[in-house]
Amino acid sequence: MEGTVELTEKDAATSPVGEPFADGYDEDIGRVLVTREQLQAKLRELGGQITGDYQDRDLLLVAVLKGAFMVMADLARHIHLPVDFDFMAVASYGAATQTSGVVRILKDLDRDIEGRHVLLVEDIVDSGLTLNYLLKNLRGRRPATLEVCALLQKKGIQRVPLDLRYVGFEIPPDFVVGYGLDYAEKFRNLPYIATLKPEAYTDPA
Ligand code: IMP
Ligand code: MG
Repeated sequence: MEGTVELTEKDAATSPVGEPFADGYDEDIGRVLVTREQLQAKLRELGGQITGDYQDRDLLLVAVLKGAFMVMADLARHIHLPVDFDFMAVASYGAATQTSGVVRILKDLDRDIEGRHVLLVEDIVDSGLTLNYLLKNLRGRRPATLEVCALLQKKGIQRVPLDLRYVGFEIPPDFVVGYGLDYAEKFRNLPYIATLKPEAYTDPA
């Protein structure tokens, strides 16, 4: 079909990262830390745990935009319960790769969460400052329970103690992109988690 790109086994074999690529990102990708298969297997596992833990409870999934949109979509398909969805958007980083510790709510929840069983779905916990702020904010709204499911947690650099009920993968404290995570708004559509080559960082530091 015109305008359609067929990805083949050969594309995967010749890709520097062993994944088919037609996304124009391949030159920037350093190392794949978590493959597409590993991500999907883990989300299936977490979905199973969540399904077991929330039997007979009215679950509200809250994803933090934009990064968590991929996790939310795939994880939710492995949660075999009736669930509600809501979304928040916060800004903690600009186009740079260092946390500022300042969190701005760009979009708040649509509904009240008082008395609800809330599971906050996050892409990555880095310093933990964003999550810490969000949890404090949400706790103030008196949910029945409030837990966190984070796909990725960077090892050894959390600046605040956090109690994460579900964690997908612990990764080294490097900047990563893909599967919802961006660098300067790009790379979110990669189906895996990877580091960038140093040359890919174009922002003035
Ligand atoms: P924290 O407040 O330092 O924990 O940062 C949390 C937010 O920063 C995440 O929800 C991401 O949006 C972003 N972030 C942290 N580390 C990375 C990374 O390695 N790649 C892309 N975004 C990141
Ligand atoms: Mg970001």
